[in-house]
Amino acid sequence: MIGLNLFLTLGSSVLIGVSWGFEILTPKPKSIFREEYISFVVKVNPQNAKEIVIQTLEENITLKVEKDRKVYCKTIQIVPGENTIEVEVVGKDGKKQKKKVSVFMTSQVHPEGSHPPPDYKVNPFHVKNREILCADCHTISGASEQDSCMKCHGKIVSRKFPHPPSMGSCTMCHTGNDKSKYAWNDPISETCYLCHGDKKQIWLSKKYMHGPPATGNCYICHNPHSEDVRFFLKKQTNDLCTTCHSEKRRERHPLVGFVFGEAHPVSGKPDPARPGFELSCTGCHNPHASNFRFFFQNDYSGEAILCLRCHKK
Ligand code: HEC
Ligand code: HEC
Ligand code: HEC
Ligand code: HEC
Ligand code: HEC
Ligand code: HEC
Ligand code: HEC
Ligand code: HEC
Repeated sequence: MIGLNLFLTLGSSVLIGVSWGFEILTPKPKSIFREEYISFVVKVNPQNAKEIVIQTLEENITLKVEKDRKVYCKTIQIVPGENTIEVEVVGKDGKKQKKKVSVFMTSQVHPEGSHPPPDYKVNPFHVKNREILCADCHTISGASEQDSCMKCHGKIVSRKFPHPPSMGSCTMCHTGNDKSKYAWNDPISETCYLCHGDKKQIWLSKKYMHGPPATGNCYICHNPHSEDVRFFLKKQTNDLCTTCHSEKRRERHPLVGFVFGEAHPVSGKPDPARPGFELSCTGCHNPHASNFRFFFQNDYSGEAILCLRCHKK
């Protein structure tokens, strides 16, 4: 009962006289995450607690407390930037207790998520003293990934387009280091190239490589697990590009020497060079590498020939 005494001496007026409490096992306050789906786990005393209500920005989740079960788990969704999650435990005595925990989802392609406040940090979960909190009921090991990893992380492969290796080869990319048993290889590009080696050959043979992929952090733009956007992009192509190139955030792109009208369209029409694709920034610019400045999609050496990609004489 040391924990309870501590609460009382700290003197929170709400808790005075209350004979039961609860604990949030994960997430730790002020943690930084990169995925939008995380675990939320609460430990209660089933003798006193009746119901747990978890309130996120997106939804309100109610869990009924069962006889003899102390720990309750739920995958919740967070959004880029700061998220405050509220938990309310309703006691059998009708009294309610509330706690809040704030976490931060970081992303280089969402301005609201690109600068975690200085008091937030990454708190790896896959270390002995945290995994042990779940060990009574969950197996955590690389031996049978379909069963173990998916049980807690299944949502990260549930979006519309799943990336094949994430359907069961988690530890191919998550080889671990001294900070977390399942940390990913950093930078990740060499791991990507194990299977996409053809791209490595093509891109590294080009004269220019675009800044973001050149860092080796392919996840700046691609979600390695699954995404609702084709190519597992974290945003639709034009939104993705104009996050960093914000001056291009408009319907039309001014081109040097463009004499017909004021500017060229960048969306809303089919791309004549790629059946099934809409015109986008990648109709003209390669997102990874090119032999021509501005990363033009063609490998010739002039803008006139770029135009011929879609405007045949
Ligand atoms: C008392 C047993 C018990 C403990 C301890 C426990 N879990 Fe669970 N967990 C379960 C059960 C049972 C399920 C299946 C769904 C359900 O009945 O809640 C589950 C499901 C989950 C899910 C999937 C929830 C969803 O929304 O689909 C996640 C994530 C999870 N647990 C994470 C954890 C983590 C992380 C820990 C340790 C901090 C943990 N669990 C500790 C019993 C437990
Ligand atoms: C008992 C539930 C549980 C199981 C099983 C589990 N994880 Fe996790 N894992 C977590 C929690 C909780 C976090 C913290 C982030 C979150 O909530 O999603 C986490 C975080 C991670 C991270 C981020 C690095 C870190 O250490 O925080 C990676 C990578 C990861 N898990 C990979 C795996 C892989 C691979 C497996 C299967 C071998 C696995 N996990 C099985 C609960 C689980
Ligand atoms: C193709 C390589 C690859 C595969 C396969 C893969 N991951 Fe990841 N994973 C990454 C990379 C890279 C990141 C980090 C960055 C990001 O997405 O922003 C990551 C991030 C994570 C995170 C989030 C860590 C955080 O801080 O929020 C979890 C959890 C995770 N992976 C679990 C898994 C699980 C479970 C599987 C299998 C179902 C899996 N991964 C398969 C490459 C991979
Ligand atoms: C274990 C092998 C493997 C690894 C490692 C791997 N991929 Fe893949 N990837 C595949 C397979 C298989 C496909 C589906 C077939 C295809 O389209 O090439 C795919 C498809 C893709 C696609 C869509 C391609 C298309 O034309 O639709 C992208 C984008 C992608 N991967 C990016 C990555 C990134 C980024 C990494 C590193 C974080 C990575 N992959 C690591 C196997 C892998
Ligand atoms: C995470 C930020 C980021 C994203 C997302 C991004 N870029 Fe860039 N881009 C940069 C940086 C930084 C540079 C400057 C370094 C370099 O030239 O590679 C750059 C350079 C460029 C240049 C050359 C500019 C010049 O003046 O020479 C073009 C063209 C370009 N990007 C197009 C794109 C397109 C198209 C997309 C979407 C597929 C995109 N970028 C997405 C950061 C980004
Ligand atoms: C600046 C954002 C950005 C970064 C960083 C990035 N990609 Fe891409 N990638 C894209 C976009 C956008 C597409 C879709 C291109 C299109 O519309 O044709 C794409 C497509 C792909 C494809 C499938 C189509 C193709 O071009 O073959 C693969 C495979 C791929 N990327 C792998 C990677 C790997 C591996 C890395 C890391 C070395 C990486 N990407 C880094 C933006 C990026
Ligand atoms: C129809 C082809 C075409 C499309 C589509 C296109 N661009 Fe360009 N872009 C060019 C050309 C040509 C240049 C060379 C410089 C010029 O003529 O202004 C260029 C130059 C650039 C530059 C570097 C020079 C500058 O003006 O800053 C960036 C960055 C850029 N484009 C980003 C984008 C983004 C982001 C998109 C999508 C919203 C996009 N482009 C769509 C053809 C295109
Ligand atoms: C990726 C394919 C693509 C490339 C490359 C491309 N265009 Fe276009 N262009 C289009 C599409 C699609 C339209 C819209 C056609 C329509 O309205 O049906 C268009 C429209 C135009 C128009 C008509 C203007 C308007 O307002 O609709 C002109 C002129 C034009 N392009 C010139 C160029 C020039 C010059 C270049 C080279 C710098 C170029 N295009 C490169 C796809 C492309």
